[in-house]
Amino acid sequence: MTFSLILLLTALSSANAFFLMSVNTLVYERRDPIVSPGAISSHTHIITGGSDFGATVTTAQLRQSRCTSTPIAQDKSNYWTESMYFQWKNGSFTSSANILNLTTTSSYYLYPSNVPAGTVTAFPDDFRMISGDPTLRTYNASSFAQQAISFLCLDFNGASTKHTGLPVGVSCPSGIRAQINFPSCWDGKNVDSANHKSHVAFPSGGPDSGSCSDPKFPVTLPRIFIEVYWGTNNFNAQEAMNPQQPFVLAQGDGTGYGHHADYFNGWAPGVLQNVVDKCTCPQFGDPTCCSQQGIFDYNSAGNQCTINSDTSEQVLGTLDKLPGNNPVTGLSRGASVTIRVPRSLQPP
Ligand SMILES: *[C@@H]1O[C@H](CO)[C@@H](O)[C@H](O)[C@H]1NC(C)=O
Ligand SMILES: *[C@@H]1O[C@H](CO)[C@@H](O)[C@H](O)[C@H]1NC(C)=O
Ligand SMILES: *[C@@H]1O[C@H](CO)[C@@H](O)[C@H](O)[C@H]1NC(C)=O
Repeated sequence: MTFSLILLLTALSSANAFFLMSVNTLVYERRDPIVSPGAISSHTHIITGGSDFGATVTTAQLRQSRCTSTPIAQDKSNYWTESMYFQWKNGSFTSSANILNLTTTSSYYLYPSNVPAGTVTAFPDDFRMISGDPTLRTYNASSFAQQAISFLCLDFNGASTKHTGLPVGVSCPSGIRAQINFPSCWDGKNVDSANHKSHVAFPSGGPDSGSCSDPKFPVTLPRIFIEVYWGTNNFNAQEAMNPQQPFVLAQGDGTGYGHHADYFNGWAPGVLQNVVDKCTCPQFGDPTCCSQQGIFDYNSAGNQCTINSDTSEQVLGTLDKLPGNNPVTGLSRGASVTIRVPRSLQPP
């Protein structure tokens, strides 16, 4: 049995080894144990990974999860990002779903290849971090944190285009893919920080290039890159509140610049370190090679790993208001920047 792969596309430097996981959804709910521990989060998230996700988590708890929605049995980490809605002319919202029955989320782990063991350091226990800022509604092209975020307007039969925010003035025939890089340099001491960001940094060249040369962040971590597929092509923009760009992120963001994601380490002890030290997967990141080396075990039941929301609130389907009653802002910005994506980097 091999890992089910969506073979694509990110421009991956040949200096990097990587493995790619197609990850199933655990639950959609207003929980965020990093930003709002023990409380209801301000907006809805799509949550993946270990089934012991909840209002608070620790690495020790996550390791006890009865299942994981990732395809690697030893990865009970949680990964989450905001969910997406279509806003109708009458003001109501309908949640966007996954497309073509593909797994909604892909998580990549990237790390330098052909380097001595120990060059890359696996996340320590209770390590957590956030990439992105849900409050942003403007784009600053010189910010690495904003360069870490992009959206692909998908056309499986033509040319997909890459955008800095939610694509404006174009309909995306095969849906929209929200993409985000996490910082991959660490201060080597703190597993968290007050804003859940300042213990980590992007490398010298930006989110996906350069090295951890800043002496304040000398430790190289595996780089996590997450893609979420949204079936936005199921909606007709003409029936939208804002036909130019009819989608809003769960925090009420009509720009996409507020896209963000959270990570909480739930790997079994030593396993991720073994991967980055010993496992160089072939082209396209099929992690079968690591399971064949006995480094981790393939989990074929990720699609059966779901949990019930404990917030007893409807967050999917058609709703009068965004969960959390978040106002929609940023709908009137100008056109997003588009970059043509080479055919070779497009989905099959
Ligand atoms: C708004 O329009 C949508 C689509 O027709 C519909 O599903 C929803 O019930 C409407 N909302 C209200 C409050 O009428
Ligand atoms: C998705 O799965 C459902 C239920 O299994 C099926 O009815 C539908 O045809 C599938 N859609 C696509 C696009 O494959
Ligand atoms: C844009 O980002 C750069 C790099 O982080 C920062 O120095 C600059 O102050 C930012 N500009 C604005 C207007 O926020």
